[in-house]
This record gives sequence, structure tokens and C-alpha cells, in this order.
Amino acid sequence: MIFGRRKTNIPREVQAEEIYRDPGVSANAFGIDLGTCNIKIYNRSTDRIAVQKNMIAIQNKKTMIAFGNSAYEMYEKAPANISVTYPIGSGVIADINNMELLIRAFIRQEQRGAVRPADFYIAIPADVTEVERRAFYDLIKDAGIKAKRIMAVEKAIADGLGLGIDIKNSHGVLVVDVGYDTTEISILSLGGIVLSKMIKVGGHVFDNSIVSAVRREYNLVIGMKTAENVRMAFNDPSSGDTLSIYGRDIVTGLPMERTLNHEFVSASLKEHFRTIVDQVKVILERTPPELSADIYRHGLFLTGGACQEEGLAQKMEEEVRIPVNIADSPVNTVALGLAQVIRKSQYRSLAYTIEGLGR
Ligand SMILES: Nc1ncnc2c1ncn2[C@@H]1O[C@H](COP(=O)(O)OP(=O)(O)OP(=O)(O)O)[C@@H](O)[C@H]1O
Ligand SMILES: [Mg+2]
Repeated sequence: MIFGRRKTNIPREVQAEEIYRDPGVSANAFGIDLGTCNIKIYNRSTDRIAVQKNMIAIQNKKTMIAFGNSAYEMYEKAPANISVTYPIGSGVIADINNMELLIRAFIRQEQRGAVRPADFYIAIPADVTEVERRAFYDLIKDAGIKAKRIMAVEKAIADGLGLGIDIKNSHGVLVVDVGYDTTEISILSLGGIVLSKMIKVGGHVFDNSIVSAVRREYNLVIGMKTAENVRMAFNDPSSGDTLSIYGRDIVTGLPMERTLNHEFVSASLKEHFRTIVDQVKVILERTPPELSADIYRHGLFLTGGACQEEGLAQKMEEEVRIPVNIADSPVNTVALGLAQVIRKSQYRSLAYTIEGLGR
């Protein structure tokens, strides 16, 4: 049984007085979750979260011709002189130049063209090297977005806050964030991370598995977008048991239609569910016993877009044998947590400076 859905409980309005009295807050602030697949930007002045594909389209190796969702439209369809890429890989910055271009474009879009000085709160995965961590700071500093202050927040901490948990006063919270390239498994307690592990499994790996299975079984080459659409379609309870897909036949090289059934797709994802569940067990085995008792009481918190993949939560509950809570808004959880840090003075201490400009 799925334990239930927690409500993320963020008031939509902050009292002007509260902003005024809190010296740590700039009225112009952004919280950024640089996901491998989706970038999420919380804008304090509009109090909204913008979600876009974290993707850039570059023509002739020099000109950005599209970014975000419009670049994604071109993905797997563009001619050779247009490269459409994700500048983040496995949760860290893989292509800093293109990521700078993208950040500048997104922030300019948020500010409707006129870039004003602002504070930036960036979510950073725990399980990365110092150099990778530092790259997040350099990115914001060098992107030409007039950063006044650059603060980091551990991604898992932001997840916890975004799930509606009072992270500073809770003991033993297990958060599993299943994203695109990565799954981050973390044990939080009293505002800090006790244990954390990042594994390279997520929606992208699920899609890859479907692409390979279809190729093996049906001699059909399909794109990653098709694989994702297949997953999504079967996740919809109102969908039937079969689905038509289109791709290229390996033998003839011609376009071809095939029918996929639900069970075939579920079977191709099983091994990845297994990996996630096994890694959660490994983390639990290393958890101090007092915290284990708290985790048992609270249940496990599942978030990240790909946590919605059908069967994953059930598998987790059956194998780990603790109740599973699924986030209300799995794609946005980290950004919701950053919003809490930005808006609420009691959570401000959860942000820290990476270097230089911060407090
Ligand atoms: N309803 C859904 N069912 C299954 N998967 C979904 C659903 N909605 C989104 N996803 C998957 O979630 C993934 C994106 O999630 P998310 O935005 O959390 O990743 P990310 O933060 O960009 O990646 P990462 O955290 O690995 O850097 C995609 O693989 C997408 O297919
Ligand atoms: Mg993510």
C-alpha cells in the first residue's frame, strides 16, 4: 500500500513586513535546481517556479538558436550543423560555456530582458567533488546575470523542505530523488546530511532500456523521445495494454510501426528498480540505529520526476518494508525547498557560501 501523498505546504504570499524585517533577504532572488533534464527556477518576485528543458541548440558551433523547451523540440530532429545538447550530465556541469549561455537566457527571460542584481540560491548534489561544487559557483558568477550573492543549498536538504518537512528539527528522514540521470539517496537529520549516495539511474536510463529492448526484440530503432512517451503513456491508468510506436526497421532501413505491450515495457525497467531498491537498502544498513527507528516511523520520501514511474513506489515498499510517501510535485520538490530557504528566515542558515561573494 502506498502510504499517502504529503502536501507541500507553502503559503503563496509572504507578508511584506516579514521581508522587510529580515536583513538576509533580497527582494530579487532566484532559487535554481539545475537538473540534468529540467531546469527549475524559483523567482522570488513572482513567487513562481519556471520549469524548462535544460537544453540548448547551437548552430554552426557558435550561435545559440534556441533554448529550453524550444531546443528540446529540435532534439533528435536537427540537421548536422545544429547541435542540441544538455549541458548538465549526471547532475554536474559538463559544458560550462553552454550552461552559462543557458542560465543567462533563462534569467533574462524571467526578468523580461532587463537583468537586475539578484541573489542566487543553487541546489548542489552532496555526492560531488570540490571542483564540481565550485563549478556551480563559477557558473553563476560568470554568466553575466549580476549575481550579488551566491549561496549553495544541499539538494537533499532542499528536497526535504520541498516535501514539507521541517528539516531543521526532524531526525532521521530518508529522501530518494529519482531524476533523469541520477538518483540521490540521502538520510537527513537536524538540518544536515548524515549519509548520501548518488547512483546513475533515472528516467534517462529507463528510456535507454526501452530503446535497447525494442531494438533487440523487434529489430526497430526508436528515439529517446519515443521511449519516454511510451513510459508516460503506460503510466496513465486509462491507457490500454498495447501501444503503436514508430521507428526505423534495422533490416530494411525503412520507417515501421510496431505494437508494444505494457508488460514488455515494465519488464525492461525491472533491473533498474532493483538497483535503486538495493542502494536504498545499502544506505539503510549503514544508518545508525536510532535514526533507523525514526525513518521507520516517518516512512521513506520518494521524489524526482522519474519516481512517478509506474511500479517503482510499490516495489520500494515491498522490498524495503517501510511506508513510502510520494511528493506532491516530484519535478519541483528541490525548487520548492529553495523557495522555503529564500522566503523563510528560519531556514536561511541551511544555505552556505561556496566562496567569495556570499555572507
Ligand atoms: N509522470 C511521470 N512518470 C514517469 N516519469 C516521469 C513523469 N514525469 C516526469 N518523468 C521523468 O522524470 C525525469 C525528469 O525528472 P527531474 O526533472 O526530476 O530530473 P532532473 O532533475 O532534470 O535530473 P537529475 O536530478 O538527474 O539531474 C524524466 O526522465 C521524465 O521522463
Ligand atoms: Mg533533479
